[in-house]
Amino acid sequence: MSIQTKLIKMTDEEGLLQAANSLASGGLVVFPTETVYGLGASALDPFAAQKVYAAKGRPSDNPLIVHLSCIEEAEKYCFVNDTFYKLCENFSPGPLTMILPKKKIIPDEVTAGLDSVALRIPSNAIAHRLIALSKVPVAAPSANLSGKPSPTCAKHVIDDLMGRVDYIIDGGDCEVGLESTVVKIEDTKVTLIRPGGVTYEELCEVHDFVVLDKLAYEQCNENMVPISPGVKYKHYAPKAKMYVVDGEYERILSFMREKQQNENCGILCFEEDVPFLTEKNRISLGSIQDHKTQAQHLFAAFRTMDDKNVDTIYTHAASREGMGLAVYNRLIKAAGFEIINV
Ligand code: TXA
Ligand code: MG
Repeated sequence: MSIQTKLIKMTDEEGLLQAANSLASGGLVVFPTETVYGLGASALDPFAAQKVYAAKGRPSDNPLIVHLSCIEEAEKYCFVNDTFYKLCENFSPGPLTMILPKKKIIPDEVTAGLDSVALRIPSNAIAHRLIALSKVPVAAPSANLSGKPSPTCAKHVIDDLMGRVDYIIDGGDCEVGLESTVVKIEDTKVTLIRPGGVTYEELCEVHDFVVLDKLAYEQCNENMVPISPGVKYKHYAPKAKMYVVDGEYERILSFMREKQQNENCGILCFEEDVPFLTEKNRISLGSIQDHKTQAQHLFAAFRTMDDKNVDTIYTHAASREGMGLAVYNRLIKAAGFEIINV
């Protein structure tokens, strides 16, 4: 598959309009959001949705998120309720995706045959304008090849999707750096199934009935039926074997130091560790308590590690508090749930 991909700068108004027209007529457009870049297609067009799966190499039973320019549009596509509006009031536009029973207008190709649809209203200004100009709801998974980390800058997208999509809009670095929080809404019950840009604690502050799905921090086994089909797929795994190292802080550091001396390894560490480790193949994600910065740097660090040709990668476990839970979730998935306790 090779098509001519047009690269558009975020200040190019005419280019943005062309990309919006392309979306409306069945084209594929990569656009920035506050979480990660999305690979967009009209959510009303089953053929366009099929092209999204083909361009990413994504299994067709893993449903897409539908992006809207405003909350008022939601009731055209799904059965909304008070809980939905309450969450919208607090977190939309923004990095929260809400799953609700779908209406017929959304084709099965978008929801992989499920009777629910995932909706998100991004806060990123370019995403907002593009969707509004296109006048269609936009189905978009993260704009990476299946199996790669989600892209957080235009270079990542170009590396993965040049020649496979019609337009790529360069909107600079993504603010959050990892994907949206996904919740399923059933009456007043809100189940958090993927931790992301909105934290579990933030949801609990505004709503009484929030359940954290176990699969946000544990491995899915054969006996479990995940709420989200995405959970059962192997997530990004680095080329090198990756391990999460857990235990007492000093012991983790001496474990990492020793590995640096004896192995061709990469280290994902915190800013505070830097003076205690050698520079070779060491990437700092940010300060220990600064989960937001860790989230911003994580996927770029994964991609850099792949370029370094190391045999193994060792990383801290990350805190499960606040945005830490989303970082923890991506780390243990990338490590295939291999945790070394020291
Ligand atoms: O931040 C984000 O969420 C980014 C940007 C582009 O918005 N999108 C993104 O999409 O991460 P994707 O396709 O990579 O992840 C969507 C997740 C998948 O795990 C999928 O299985 C789940 O949401 N999902 C989508 N629709 C669903 C549904 N109706 N029921 C259950 N899970 C659903
Ligand atoms: Mg994805």
